[in-house]
Amino acid sequence: MEPLLHRKREAIARMFSIIAPKYDLLNRLLSGFNDVRWRRFAVEWLPVSAKIVVDIGTGTGDFAFAVLDRCSKAKVIGVDLSTQMLKLAQRKAVAQGRKDSCSWLIADGLNLPFRDESADAVVCAFVIRNFEDLTKGLTEMHRILKPNGVALILEFCQPKPSWWWTPVGLFVRYVVPIVGRLMSDPVAYSYLTASIQTFLPAEAVAEKMKAAGFRKVVWATLTFGVATFFRAVK
Ligand SMILES: C[S@@+](CC[C@H](N)C(=O)[O-])C[C@H]1O[C@@H](n2cnc3c(N)ncnc32)[C@H](O)[C@@H]1O
Repeated sequence: MEPLLHRKREAIARMFSIIAPKYDLLNRLLSGFNDVRWRRFAVEWLPVSAKIVVDIGTGTGDFAFAVLDRCSKAKVIGVDLSTQMLKLAQRKAVAQGRKDSCSWLIADGLNLPFRDESADAVVCAFVIRNFEDLTKGLTEMHRILKPNGVALILEFCQPKPSWWWTPVGLFVRYVVPIVGRLMSDPVAYSYLTASIQTFLPAEAVAEKMKAAGFRKVVWATLTFGVATFFRAVK
């Protein structure tokens, strides 16, 4: 758990490759299908005219596909550290008849292989919590965006301590690691809870986004404070 909690790149990539085969199933199960709703809600804030959209930490591609539902003319480039996750994303794109609208790239969100000001939008769901250097990750998003480009981020931010004693908080704290242990990888799903506890609160993430150069930073919590949505403009 130590290398994971220090967000070591290789450990994070290995963990996601291990859980990749059951990742979508556990997402739906543990969130009660809210993960689908959160991504759908987020993409509503994208300009429909967006042409080049980068999905950082695309995983199995669900955020990328939600972007394509909203921006029919867009080309989405999904980047991720995990080969196994990207293989699944690629397979899903083929099954959905969308392989020409997306491409998949093994790359680090902290060192994106894109030119400055090359993307109309950047999206990133449940990834920044895993960044070894959050400031660098946010600066990279800002760098590749065109002026007025939009960044959308979904994340599990650290809730107030009292939240952990609500029914939803208790579920995240106790049920998630147990279900993860029974159905997937025990370390990964214990890390999920631990990483939320050790991540920043939403206000602090918003401040870091502003410090990275973003303007019009707004955020809102979703589904009883489980997830947080951020939108910002370059
Ligand atoms: C919790 S999953 C989220 C996947 C997807 N965005 C979604 O909405 O389901 C986090 C993903 O981010 C990737 N990831 C973590 N750190 C990364 C980094 N520094 N650069 C690129 N991808 C990263 C992991 O490999 C994993 O696939």
